[in-house]
Amino acid sequence: MTDRNTHDHRAPGELTIRPVTGLGEFGPDSDLAAEILSAAPWIADDDVLVVTSKVFSKIEGRTVPAPSDPHERDAFRRRLIEKEAVRIVARRDELLITANRNGLVQAAAGVDGSNLPGDRLALLPEDPDASAARLRAALAASGRRVAVVVTDTMGRAWRAGQTDVAIGASGIAVRHGYDGSVDDYGNPLRVTDIAVADELAAAADLVKGKLAGVPVAVVRGLRPVDDGTCARDLVRDPEADLFRLGTDDALTQGRIEALLTRRSVRSFAPGAVEPEVMHAAFADALTAPAPHHTHPVRFVWLRDRERRRTLLDAMADDWRADLTRDAKSGESIAKRVARGQILYDAPELVIPVMTGDGMHVYPDERRNGCEDTMFTVAAGAAVGYLLVALSVRGIGSCWIGSTIFAAGTVRRILDLPEKWAPLGAVAVGRPAEHAGLRRPADTRGLVMEL
Ligand SMILES: Cc1cc2nc3c(=O)[nH]c(=O)nc-3n(C[C@H](O)[C@H](O)[C@H](O)COP(=O)(O)O)c2cc1C
Repeated sequence: MTDRNTHDHRAPGELTIRPVTGLGEFGPDSDLAAEILSAAPWIADDDVLVVTSKVFSKIEGRTVPAPSDPHERDAFRRRLIEKEAVRIVARRDELLITANRNGLVQAAAGVDGSNLPGDRLALLPEDPDASAARLRAALAASGRRVAVVVTDTMGRAWRAGQTDVAIGASGIAVRHGYDGSVDDYGNPLRVTDIAVADELAAAADLVKGKLAGVPVAVVRGLRPVDDGTCARDLVRDPEADLFRLGTDDALTQGRIEALLTRRSVRSFAPGAVEPEVMHAAFADALTAPAPHHTHPVRFVWLRDRERRRTLLDAMADDWRADLTRDAKSGESIAKRVARGQILYDAPELVIPVMTGDGMHVYPDERRNGCEDTMFTVAAGAAVGYLLVALSVRGIGSCWIGSTIFAAGTVRRILDLPEKWAPLGAVAVGRPAEHAGLRRPADTRGLVMEL
């Protein structure tokens, strides 16, 4: 392999791009190298032959008969696209952007009817790099040491219009990395990595065109260096692709994964959570379902540090008293109470309460108890929503039950109405560690289908 930097793409001197005219129709029996050399005997060593992939599709038996009825033809085309595509990257109405087995991302998996009779459709060559290598070898056998680039026409994600790109290549460094180079102003070029084969494909299209029946052009003056790369090296690794999915699909996936972003976070990075983020999460959480069109929950965001400490100290006293009555040892009591430390340490603390506002009142205790349960579960749902609304914003939380056991103390210290029932406390902050998505739960034994 030759170092790709040995070929200086920056100062190539003069290039000429010449169409190969006079080529006939290609089919499965065509000897492509012979036909090219016959039409262009002037081809010389170090030329780059840029060849439209449709030629290889025709020679390699990759065109298929298609129904002439427009409706049937569309359905047939759709089936071909689904067969060729290994992944749907994006879709909008009839338009499908797909990835094929070679990683090529383009509209309709490259299935195309242009420059073909109306009753046929073309698929891309199975392996365009191999097609390029075969043509190059055949030309070498005829005494011409050339490089070959196989092209197809594609749209680009953020640009209107299409250009030709290299989908196959042989005998040429497909990329020219400038890492380690310095420009005339002394700026290091760290990320500049030019897709030379794509540039050649686009340039050659200027003389090939789409209508003139000129499927081959010859670029002279570049002196290609074979570094063993091929067009496959121009396909971005999906792992490194920031835009692996189309916008709609990315949004759908993000929504599906929203719940899986949440887990109990008990260790927080220092620093408050921005009030806008807290308020946005509250606003989302308050969309939780609730009976009688009420808001059975209030979120008490306890921002006053002193008041927080007073509350937590009083709750710890209550807890110690309970545990002492349970005859727990001093050591056991200290250990349990220490678990409440997270509520002192968390950057933010939210105490959700069930207010009972809007509850129906019945003449009997049974139904009043049911109403209470209904409002409690609805308020709990809102707390669950809050935890997810925070986690999708990158904010961690842990729902701690303790205020449920110290309702009177909470009401007294926070001056809350007598009928308000605390539903725990939510410790909130930026997670100390980024944990990533969790797995969906194993549903065995937890879902009953009756
Ligand atoms: C009502 C309620 C009370 C909870 N109380 C505590 C608690 O006192 N201390 C604690 O560490 N976690 C508490 N949790 C969090 C659970 O331990 C946690 O949800 C469970 O371990 C599952 O972990 P995950 O939230 O990461 O899925 C409580 C959760 C709920 C819903």
